[in-house]
This record gives sequence, C-alpha cells and structure tokens, in this order.
Amino acid sequence: MYVCLCNQITDHEIRRAVEDGCSSMRQLRNELGVATQCGRCGTMAREILNEHRQSV
Ligand code: FES
Repeated sequence: MYVCLCNQITDHEIRRAVEDGCSSMRQLRNELGVATQCGRCGTMAREILNEHRQSV
C-alpha cells in the first residue's frame, strides 16, 4: 500500500529501509524522501517505522 502518495513510497519500502538500518524519520526522509512534500504521510510513516523497528 502507498504511504506517501507524493513520492509513491510503499509501506514495504519503509520496512525494508528500517531493516537496512533506518531508525528515525530523518533517516527515512533522507533515504526515501518520505514526507518531503505535503507531509500528510508523516504520521503513518512514523507508525510503520516504530512498529517495524521493534520487530527487527
Ligand atoms: Fe508524503 Fe505528500 S504524501 S509528502
């Protein structure tokens, strides 16, 4: 599912980035470009980041 429509980033890509070492929104933003435009995806991206970080 798309989390960030502006940049067409999926939840799968966010999880993969966490597995590859991203541990903060800043890193996700730099790595994938999440929440760099309208910002509406920020809350959901953060939730996925936090959930997945605990399970990695
Ligand atoms: Fe992610 Fe707009 S939906 S920046």
